[in-house]
Amino acid sequence: MNGTFWREKLRTGVTSPLHWVSMIVMRFFTSAFTTFVLFLSVTSCGFLKKEKVPPAPVSVPVTAPKTSSYTPRSLNAAPLRNPNVALSGAFQGGEASHSFGNRSKPYIAMTFDDGPHPVHTPRLLDMLKRRNIRATFYVIGHKVERYPHIIRRIVAEGHEIGNHTWKHDNLTKLSNAQIIADLQRSTNAIAKVTGVRPRTMRPPYGALYGAQRQMVYNRLGMPSILWDVDPQDWKRPGPSVVSSRIVNGTKPGSIVLAHDLHGPTVDAMPAALDGLLRKGHQFVTVSQLLAQKGQ
Ligand code: NI
Repeated sequence: MNGTFWREKLRTGVTSPLHWVSMIVMRFFTSAFTTFVLFLSVTSCGFLKKEKVPPAPVSVPVTAPKTSSYTPRSLNAAPLRNPNVALSGAFQGGEASHSFGNRSKPYIAMTFDDGPHPVHTPRLLDMLKRRNIRATFYVIGHKVERYPHIIRRIVAEGHEIGNHTWKHDNLTKLSNAQIIADLQRSTNAIAKVTGVRPRTMRPPYGALYGAQRQMVYNRLGMPSILWDVDPQDWKRPGPSVVSSRIVNGTKPGSIVLAHDLHGPTVDAMPAALDGLLRKGHQFVTVSQLLAQKGQ
């Protein structure tokens, strides 16, 4: 058309009105057609995109018993901030040993001894993490070297590490120099693996004379941590007995003794921890519990 138009224009020197009209009409239809094609392609893309959007997930309501002060959380829900993270762990000196904390505050400390264990300790860490609970692990030095990844996980998840000697000797049978060397060897192993140094120690079997506790405290600044709740879990009375002894025996300020070395003890923990939460206890580490003691 354009060729014909320009040939006509060159031949005659003028453009006839008919040509002008036909040109305008043709260009109008051409641009209208282009616009229509563009519109079709854009809208079809929009429809395709819309079809690819997945349906909205169906939310399932979480029900909790109304009599309970503890409300279990959905695993899909946003994690709550641990209310105890902000509590100071900077305890003041004075006492060489402790069996419990402040009786007038709601805080308690769960302690787990003789680990880490390659299977039971990670299992326990999962249970604590699910409930947003911090605990204290009194680990054995030579096992720290054997399972460094578990020790690192304990620290990374906000728990406290305590010193439970190098190989679980009865310290009452050692000289002062041997006791100090043993505890320092464990402390160095823990610090090398995790970058943190334990601030408290627990004598194996709870066996340490008063004079020895004072000596350890004077030399290393580490109080001896005993307990006021002992479920005797190492005798393996069964998970339900262990959990009920812990729940019934714990009161404000308690330090609870348990062993992550034993599978049945870890089996007892879901019921024990949930029972303690229902009673309104709040979990802190041993250092935090001691820091609350003078307040
Ligand atoms: Ni022990």
